[in-house]
Order: sequence, then C-alpha cells, then structure tokens
Amino acid sequence: MALPTSTFDARQLTIALPKGRMQQQALALLAQIGYGRDAADPNDDDAARRLIIAGAAGRVSYLLAKPGDVPIYVEYGVADLGVVGEDVLAESGRDVYEPLRLPFGHCRLVVAGWAERPSRPLRLESNPRVATKYPNLARAYFQGRGISAEIIALSGSVELAPVVGLADLIVDLVETGNTLRAHGLVELRTILESQACLIANRASYRLKAASMTDLLERLRSAIQPTDL
Ligand code: PRP
Repeated sequence: MALPTSTFDARQLTIALPKGRMQQQALALLAQIGYGRDAADPNDDDAARRLIIAGAAGRVSYLLAKPGDVPIYVEYGVADLGVVGEDVLAESGRDVYEPLRLPFGHCRLVVAGWAERPSRPLRLESNPRVATKYPNLARAYFQGRGISAEIIALSGSVELAPVVGLADLIVDLVETGNTLRAHGLVELRTILESQACLIANRASYRLKAASMTDLLERLRSAIQPTDL
C-alpha cells in the first residue's frame, strides 16, 4: 500500500505509530474509537511485514515507525498525527503540536547508579561518564546542574554500561524498576515523568481541522481522566 501523494484530501489522515511496546496499545485505543486497522488482504503474503497499514475503512493510513522517528514524520508533515512517548518527544526537540495525552506508556526518565554507591550529591561527581539513549536530555540535565559529565550515547541495553565499566551513571527509562534491580542499580534522581501523547503537524492541524477534530473528540470521550 502506497500513500496517496498526488492529491490533497483533507478527509484522509496519516498517523505515525511507534513500533514496539506502545504499538498495540495505540491500535487498541484507535479501534475503540472507530479508527481500527482494516483487515489485511488474505492474498498478501507480506501483510505482517507491511509498514503502512490502512484503517478506518481506508480513511486513515498508519505508518509503523521507530519510536524516535515518529516526531520527525510529524514535523515534516509526512504524517498528520503521531503517537509517541513524551520522553522521546522531549529528546527529539521537534516542533509539533501536542493536543492530547494518552492513557498508556507511563514511565520515568531517571539518573541511576550503583546501589552501593557512596551517598554524595550528584554535583560533587567529578566528570562522571553517563550512558544513555537520551543524550540531549541527559546533557541538559547535567549542564543545568553545573556538572561536567561525559555523555555516552547508546542505542539500548543501557544498564549494561555500569556493569561492564563503560559508565559511572546511566540516564534511562524506568517502568517497573526490574531491569535496574536485576543489575544492582538504583534510581538517584527523576528527570521527567512520561506517558504516551498524540502529536500533530502544525499545518495539518489547520488544513485538516474537521478530520482532526473528529478523531480528537472521539479520543477525549474514550479516555477517562482517571486513566491518565
Ligand atoms: C527500557 C528501558 C529499560 C527498561 C525499563 O528498555 O531502557 O532498559 O525498558 O523497564 P523496567 O523498569 O520495566 O525494567 P527496552 O525494553 O525498551 O529496551 P532497550 O534497552 O534495548 O531500549
């Protein structure tokens, strides 16, 4: 399935969804409000591998993107809307509109270190090496506290870094805390609380106002404040 590129149709929405943890929750919420994915063509052997899927009886195209890339698709207007974690959005620094928080993807971005680390303030750390998938947020956090940290950007499995001596501290996401505990690490500071949010391209938000409003109103009615 290719995206329609030649004609502008204000009724047609393209929505970027994050592959992985939040994908199923996002699709389930969208199905609940009448924007579910359409059944795949039974003759399509590649259906499970498709990165563009249709929904809402063809009125929506879903792009399945890496979470960190969702804000890029939305800022450039390739997608009108996107679902992304607030942590990923903050790290990206992309200029998008954020109309709505969604009731899943709750976690926090923390500074963590060894459980048996001497209890001294972070500001007394001398040039700590900090491993993270969030180099921009980590750099801003340490700079904001006057700590000259060496930020080491990793792609994942960040808890490995202190265990093998690559870093003194990590800045990483915590959901249950199990991964930290399993590696003898503890939370030292919280940088930000995060959950999923809906983001919108600023131009699409005006040009496709009717379609956007329909989807947003349905989402707002489906989400109870207590779910957030
Ligand atoms: C995330 C995060 C932690 C873990 C936290 O990693 O970076 O490693 O989940 O979850 P917990 O608090 O419930 O244990 P993810 O599974 O996304 O994999 P990655 O490290 O390879 O990015």
